[in-house]
Amino acid sequence: MAREKTRFVCQACGAVHPKWQGRCDACGEWNTLAEEAPAPRGPGPAAKAGGGRRVAFVGLKGESAPPPRIATGIAELDRVLGGGLVPASAVLVGGDPGIGKSTILLQAAARIAAAGRRVLYISGEEAVEQVRLRAARLGLTESPLALAAATALRDIAASLEDEADAALVVMDSIQTVWLDALDSAPGTVAQVRACAAELIRLAKSRGFALVLVGHVTKEGTLAGPRVLEHMVDATLYFEGDRGHQFRILRAVKNRFGATDEIGVFEMTGTGLVEVANPSALFLAERRGNVSGSAVFAGIEGTRPVLVEVQALLSPSSGGSPRRQVVGWDSGRLSMLLAVLESRCGMSLGQNDVYLNIAGGLRINEPAADLAVAAALVSAATDRPTDADRVYFGEVGLSGEVRQVAQAEARLREAAKLGFGAATLPRRLARGGKAPAAPEGLGLAEIGHLADLVA
Ligand code: TYD
Ligand code: MG
Repeated sequence: MAREKTRFVCQACGAVHPKWQGRCDACGEWNTLAEEAPAPRGPGPAAKAGGGRRVAFVGLKGESAPPPRIATGIAELDRVLGGGLVPASAVLVGGDPGIGKSTILLQAAARIAAAGRRVLYISGEEAVEQVRLRAARLGLTESPLALAAATALRDIAASLEDEADAALVVMDSIQTVWLDALDSAPGTVAQVRACAAELIRLAKSRGFALVLVGHVTKEGTLAGPRVLEHMVDATLYFEGDRGHQFRILRAVKNRFGATDEIGVFEMTGTGLVEVANPSALFLAERRGNVSGSAVFAGIEGTRPVLVEVQALLSPSSGGSPRRQVVGWDSGRLSMLLAVLESRCGMSLGQNDVYLNIAGGLRINEPAADLAVAAALVSAATDRPTDADRVYFGEVGLSGEVRQVAQAEARLREAAKLGFGAATLPRRLARGGKAPAAPEGLGLAEIGHLADLVA
């Protein structure tokens, strides 16, 4: 019989390597490989032959009711979830340590419990006393939430097996749970996978909604939640840097709702508070009449959001110029700079370029191109953009300004926030319908980036 070989598993992405190596070929991370015992033998070739039952195939038509939802009572969270938690489903909430995962989940769990549902909060990171202190700070001590501190999966599973009517179980965090049958340490890919699989199985069989908390770490000493993404029904990421008080909850996967939906929160002395009007918040500290600033009318999920784009140019002190970007894609910035240089005759090459999306938001939409270009042009010419103008539109390599989706929703949001003008892509000559501009909003439609520069 062949000798059982140990294998080396990347703790960041879960790729398996036969030998140790410094860098994982699959995800490119350094020092993430850890030795693990061989995987247990699967059912093997025997499973191929006979003995199975026939599966029933059905048509696509049929009555199926939308899943019932457990509203968390926190509107921003409910929207990101697609309308609330779904019974018998699993949600992963990921994010950097200290970002506020435990806080928001304790707030949501306590509210659901206060509404009369059975809610269990299992903390593997903090002792009961610590969670109680947090609850006191958040003013939640009256909630009939059931709290426990535990990390042994065997004990947790035994407790959950007896739960007949639990509506929600929160496990904070999945990296602290361990199964004694495995040799690897808690937090390794093998442990995280096995423990999550068992908890998810319990959620499906007992019918409760399961929320798993997962830390994202760069060091790779803990398994990244990425290995769990395919096992759960929804993955939410909590973003924002600890220096800012804003926190953004973003759905990156959701079997029961839209992805890319965001919820905006503010971290206060008494926990996370919903921000119902994020545009007003993101623009709160904007100062008009400063060069290098432009307002982008963006769409995050289903909601329009206005944010300020800030650019700063300064003469480079020799060597290759710096390109520093916060909240946007640096490759996209290089492309825009190249287009401005070669299609619009601007010379920016000898400058260091700094670009910042104010408020800590991360923008992924190409529609931001035009606002970024406006900020860059404004910084280069030292002329402020109109303080009451918003920008949106994608820029192509020949400098053409392209249409983007949901122009009307963007314009409505701009009008709502009191803006008076918008610069947007020119509608196509034929077939293109002009976006219905809300009253009082002047539209400047442009077809080429050079129109903006002029
Ligand atoms: P926490 O929820 O513990 O983060 P995570 O579970 O993601 O690691 O959040 C911790 C931070 O939040 C901590 O730095 C303190 C801050 N905080 C507040 O500012 N106000 C509050 O009411 C609470 C509970 C925490
Ligand atoms: Mg925590």
